[in-house]
Formats: sequence, C-alpha cells, structure tokens
Amino acid sequence: MNRRDWIKLSACASAVFPFVGLTKPFLLENPIEKELKASDFGEDFLWGAACAAYQVEGAWNKDGRGPSIWDTFSHKKGKVHNDENGDVASDFYHRYKEDIALLKKLNFKVFRFSISWSRVFPDGTVKINQKGVEFYHQVIDECLKNDLQPWITLYHWDLPQVLEDEGGWANRDIVNWFLNYVDFCTKEYGSKVKNWMVMNEPAAFVGIGYMMGYHAPGKKSVSKFLKATHHACLAMAEGGRKIKSNVPDSNVGTTFSCSHIDPYRSGLKDIKAVTRMDALLNRLYIEPSLGMGYPYDAIPALKKIEKYFKPGDKEKLIFDFDFIGLQNYFRVVAKKSLFPPFLWAKQISAKKRDMPVNEMGFEIYPEGMYKVLKQFSEYKKIKNIIVTENGTCFKDKIEGENIHDEQRIHFFKSYLSNVLKAKKEGVPVSGYFVWSLTDNFEWSEGYEPRFGLIHVDFNTQKRRVKDSGYWFEEFLSI
Ligand code: NOJ
Repeated sequence: MNRRDWIKLSACASAVFPFVGLTKPFLLENPIEKELKASDFGEDFLWGAACAAYQVEGAWNKDGRGPSIWDTFSHKKGKVHNDENGDVASDFYHRYKEDIALLKKLNFKVFRFSISWSRVFPDGTVKINQKGVEFYHQVIDECLKNDLQPWITLYHWDLPQVLEDEGGWANRDIVNWFLNYVDFCTKEYGSKVKNWMVMNEPAAFVGIGYMMGYHAPGKKSVSKFLKATHHACLAMAEGGRKIKSNVPDSNVGTTFSCSHIDPYRSGLKDIKAVTRMDALLNRLYIEPSLGMGYPYDAIPALKKIEKYFKPGDKEKLIFDFDFIGLQNYFRVVAKKSLFPPFLWAKQISAKKRDMPVNEMGFEIYPEGMYKVLKQFSEYKKIKNIIVTENGTCFKDKIEGENIHDEQRIHFFKSYLSNVLKAKKEGVPVSGYFVWSLTDNFEWSEGYEPRFGLIHVDFNTQKRRVKDSGYWFEEFLSI
C-alpha cells in the first residue's frame, strides 16, 4: 500500500488533512473583491510573506549543520512523494539575498522565516555552530538593510535528530532543551529582532508527526501524541516567557492551524462530531495558554494527558501572548464515525462533496477565513491576531518568462476580502502574511504542490515572479 492509499484509509489522517483531489476551477468573484484596496486595511496593517527553514534552506549538511528529523525522515524510502527531500530545497541558504530583494520588490514589509535548530545547535543543546549562527545574522541584516521587518519562528518542525533519538517531543526534557535553544537565539538576535513566534502549528507537528505518522518523526502512538501535546504546550508558554525576559520590548506570538468546521448532515450526531473535531483541531493547543486547560468538555478521553502532568504544570501552561498567529488553509466537514475511538468523528473530503480544491485537495472556502477569525476573536484574552499564513497551490502555467496563476490571484482576493470583512466587524486582525514567498518543499508532498508567489525551477534554481506576485506588487503599492 503506498503512502497516499494509507492516508485515504486512515480516518484519523482525514481528520487533519483532506484527500488529494483534482483541481476544479475556482473562479468566484464578488463585488468586494473587485474593489479591494490595501489601504482599506489601514496604514499600520502588516503585509508579509513567510517561509520555513527546512522548506527553503537546503544546505542540509553544510557548514556544520546537524541532521534534523526531516532529514532522517525524507531520506527514508517511501516517506515523501517521489522520495524527495529538503537537501537542496530552494537553496535559500545561498540565495537569501535574491529572495529578500524580491520580497522587497513585491512591496511587502515583513519577512517571516524560521531558524533551523540543528543549524545553530547540531547536537541539540550544547555545541554552538558559529557558521549557522552567522547565517541568521546575515539574513536578519539583509532584511534590515532592505527596510523589512524580520519575524522569526523558533520552531517550524525541524527538530534536531539527536533529540528525537532521546524521545523528541514525547520526552519531558524537551521543555528544557527547547528553552536553552530559545534562550540562545533571543539573546543572540534580540537586539535586532523584536517579533517572535515560539512555534508553528503544534496541532500539525504533534498530530501528524506523533499520531498519524506521515510527517517526521513518523510515530503512530496515542501515548506519544498525548505526551508530545503536553510538552509542546508547556514549551510554548515557557518559550514565550523566555523571549519576554530576554527581549523585554518584544512582540511575542505563536501560530495555530485554524479551520472552520461544518457538520456533514444537519442532525445532532454530526453536530456533536463537529464539537469533538473542533476541540482536536482548533482548541487543544491554544486553550491551555489562555488558562482554560485542555478541552476535556468535548473529548473526555483527553483527560489521560494528566498522567504526564507535574505539580505546577497547570500554571506553567498559561502565557499571555501579544498576538496569535492564525493560519487557515481549508474548511473541515465532519461526520460521526466509529473510528477513531475517542474522537468518533471523521472528515468528508472536499472532493467527495464536489467542492473546489487546490492541488493538495484543500477545499477553497474563503468564508472559512472570516469564520475562523470570528471564532478565535471570541476568546477575550486574545489581544491581536495576525494571519501568519494563508496561501494555496494550483498548477502554474509557464509561458516563457511568464508564470500565470490566475486562480491564486482569485484565491488571495477572496480570502483577503474575508479578512477585511472580519476586521470591519471589529476582529483585532492586524496583519496578513502570504504562504509562501517562493515555491518550496511541501513536507510529505515534496516539490509538486507549489505555494510560491515566486516560481522556482528546482533544476536551475531560477526565480520568476508569478502573476500573483505582480498582483501583490501592485496591490501593495500604496
Ligand atoms: C502550514 C505549514 O506551516 C507550512 O509549513 C505548510 O507548507 C503549509 N501549511 C501548506 O501546507
């Protein structure tokens, strides 16, 4: 059975990622989209583009970098589509100046990128790799020279392999390993960088990496999932405190995958399935930081997580983030199911529902952006929301030097209209970062899905701005 078949068979997998499907044209346009102007979002609204170390850097074994779980995972046969890996990726390690110049040309003001933990600490905790440290100084300096704000994510899924060998996120020691790394980075770069994100989408790296097994480190264990969940939540809050103590004038956030969820049928059974799915996908990682604990009300079996609590943990889970990074890619439609136990719910793919999807089978559902912004703004403790990722992958049309991606332009117009609608209704959303600046390595899906505003020819590393990139250049020229 190949990996995709496995995904299809796994009701659990479908709880988080929809199936891969054919692209149905998505060409809706509404009146607000036509008149959309960046100035409507306000002068201070932050416009950025994002990427992540493992997905773009390459240079996986250059200048003293240690292996991460994604090197190990992608070097194994059958884990990534076409057995691809991030060894070279979009070669950002050598081409960061060109990419930052393009970001600037497209009129963005923010560059969100992540630090590769194993480039800085090849052994995870003690030995500092000076060349790796220097690399991020150069990236930061290049941003500052170009008048761009660097926004750094400390953990975007590429755990040093040596730490996974000790149990990774399922080992409680990771909280201290992580704090040591955060301490170092924020002391090293804190005088130049004020905007920090502790983690990227814990629901994804814990759920897909430790329970469903089709992301690194490839584990499929409920107990590892629960332990990793608790340790990630602790590390997120403790990490936030560490950044604040090292960089007192910092703006500290962390990012979450957020999806609007609808019932498949209108009956009570599916409505209850939605409640459980919502707890797993949207509430599990954010509510502990808000002082609400884990969502036992919706999934009582989650209480088992308390086996891994130590005295004082309930308080340690809480941290008052300056902002929440909201990342929205698709809508989830759920129905009651006998599998998996405890969740008793599964997702009905967009393809099956005959809805428009992108190359990864993600449903195109612009109203979902508005709905999750509203949903998350209902947490009164959230002061500020930034859409730290939103984007899509469609097949680009290559015509000489031109890369046509009309559907992506429609995508951005319609999603941005929904951000604006939420903002006008009082949701405290203050920024929008496109995923992604360039085409890159899309984890288990390899290089086929292209999310970039800039096309990368992975044979030559040549960059070409897509029509959607030029659309942003014009849109942001205010
Ligand atoms: C969210 C993740 O943060 C990012 O790494 C990934 O490429 C996008 N989703 C698209 O799947």
